[in-house]
Amino acid sequence: MVMTSSELRRKYLDFFKKNGHEIIPSASLIPENDSSTLFISSGMQPLVPYLLGEKHPQGNRLANSQKSLRTEDIDEVGDNLHTTFFEMLGNWSLGDYFKKEQLNWIFEFLVKDLEIDPKRLYSTVFRGEEKIGVSKDEESVNILKQVFKKYKIEAKDIDFPEENGMQDGRIFYYSARKCWWSKSGTPEKMPLSEIGGPDSEIFYDLGAELKRHENSEFRDLPCHVNCDCGRFVEIGNSVFIEYKKIENGFKKLKQYNVDFGGGLERLTMVVQGKNNVFETDLFSDLIKKIEELSGKKYEENKNSFRIIVDHIRAATFIIGDVRGITPSNLGQGYIVRRLIRRAIRFGKKIGIGKDGWLKEVAEVVAINYEDVYPEIKDNLDFISAELTKEEEKFILTLEKGLKEFEKLNNVSGTDAFNLYQTYGFPIEITAELAKEKGINVNVEEFRNELEKHQELSRTASAGMFKGGLADNSEATTKLHTAAHLMLAGLRKVLGDEVYQKGSNITAERLRFDFSHKEKMTGEQLKDVENFVNGIIEKDLPVWFEEMPLEKAKEINAMGVFESKYGQNVKVYFIGKGDKNVSREICGGPHVEHTGILGKFKILKEESSSSGIRRIKAILE
Ligand code: ALA
Repeated sequence: MVMTSSELRRKYLDFFKKNGHEIIPSASLIPENDSSTLFISSGMQPLVPYLLGEKHPQGNRLANSQKSLRTEDIDEVGDNLHTTFFEMLGNWSLGDYFKKEQLNWIFEFLVKDLEIDPKRLYSTVFRGEEKIGVSKDEESVNILKQVFKKYKIEAKDIDFPEENGMQDGRIFYYSARKCWWSKSGTPEKMPLSEIGGPDSEIFYDLGAELKRHENSEFRDLPCHVNCDCGRFVEIGNSVFIEYKKIENGFKKLKQYNVDFGGGLERLTMVVQGKNNVFETDLFSDLIKKIEELSGKKYEENKNSFRIIVDHIRAATFIIGDVRGITPSNLGQGYIVRRLIRRAIRFGKKIGIGKDGWLKEVAEVVAINYEDVYPEIKDNLDFISAELTKEEEKFILTLEKGLKEFEKLNNVSGTDAFNLYQTYGFPIEITAELAKEKGINVNVEEFRNELEKHQELSRTASAGMFKGGLADNSEATTKLHTAAHLMLAGLRKVLGDEVYQKGSNITAERLRFDFSHKEKMTGEQLKDVENFVNGIIEKDLPVWFEEMPLEKAKEINAMGVFESKYGQNVKVYFIGKGDKNVSREICGGPHVEHTGILGKFKILKEESSSSGIRRIKAILE
């Protein structure tokens, strides 16, 4: 019997539970207080405060399966491995165990529990880099040699595999480009105060007999585990997060951390003996559904099928999230729009003619994941309505837009803008169509056109904000505490129907979305400001308590209740004992007393989307 993806997920969590880990729920796909990515893109991201030393209410050994999404991979989807949405199986040591336990456990899990042939497994380690003062990871090499020995494999370590190939090696040294992990990539790319460290990746050999290397563009170069020919697939990564970027290099963190991540899709592929994630049970029902809707076979239309099932699955998860995002021309909403519209275009290409077909695919997603991510089924009506709305909008103009496009021999910025504004073609779709036809698009000119249109120009900036900040710099921490006070103030002034709908905090400002139907009056804004500044003047203490989720609900703590019943959560209070003015489920960090916040000022209050207002505020 072949192991299913659900069994694999369960086995992973059971294995780490058995080894002293608490299983925590997946965090929302939408980051909070973190503007570095539009979506959570790895399991460690929601845990950054704890990797930096905050105490986690569940202890210092954690594991989960985290919903993740990588927007940079949208255009890669279509090959055998890439997906936008994926699940990352992760385990963490928050200053507890380190390399020896991690490397032994992860191989034990792969070889014993998943029954993967150890002869097909290879490891990589960091070669060291004088420039950043981090030396060669010999410790991991020695541990890995012992690990392979347990499976009767003599593991030779090899340097410069990029130049000299495999050389019968088992463990390979690579530079930071391959064996250093942080959210932003290599050490040079990391913004100040971001954390990261050397890593050790595990590769699975799909087999030389597939002749992937010979048939790839890399055929004239030596093949090695990190070669991009596709013979070797990375199935897991143990990152040793020990460093924080500072002004002129790196500083060791207070604690040594382990951050492991392995893609469920890829592990399932290996365990199910496939060489393609779309042929695993994670996609089989979806593929069947598309065959039914289109009357075409997957085998003859692989690229289109893969794009459609990936994109609709991802859009379903984003819309169905606890902090669900709907299609729009802004930031995350723009990504949902792009995913849906691209799926529709490829649907049309393979002849899906039926109206309202997207929601039928979302129903399959909901059933597939009902045990693990019940929010999809719970929110299915909402998801279906949003998908259908977007489908109706785009389908009206798609055909006409394609006809317009066909007339073009080159796509000027104005043409692209016309396709965008009149026919709803995201620039990425226009660029893709142009590539298929072998003509050029002037993307820069398009962006200029876009900028000229005030409302639309926000799209570009929202889609492009970078400059990472899941940090715990003092300025950010202060604004984070101010955000709690502001929510308390909004509820006082506007009433208890006000709930937080999202926030985004950088060192410069806070942006805060909340439920409220009308525009706030100048007087109401002043009242909120005065409330916050009043609390700052009183210099009240900020403190937290850990308590079971039920208790947090009982005391009316604000927050997203994404934990499971029985689990402990951290609740932050502002103000003494029972006289507190704010209670929120929150991971922190926060300042210790309000007196140090300075002066709170609201810069702007505007509509964010229907029924949701947005405030931008600063501390002076
Ligand atoms: N955070 C690490 C990764 O995403 C495990 O590869």
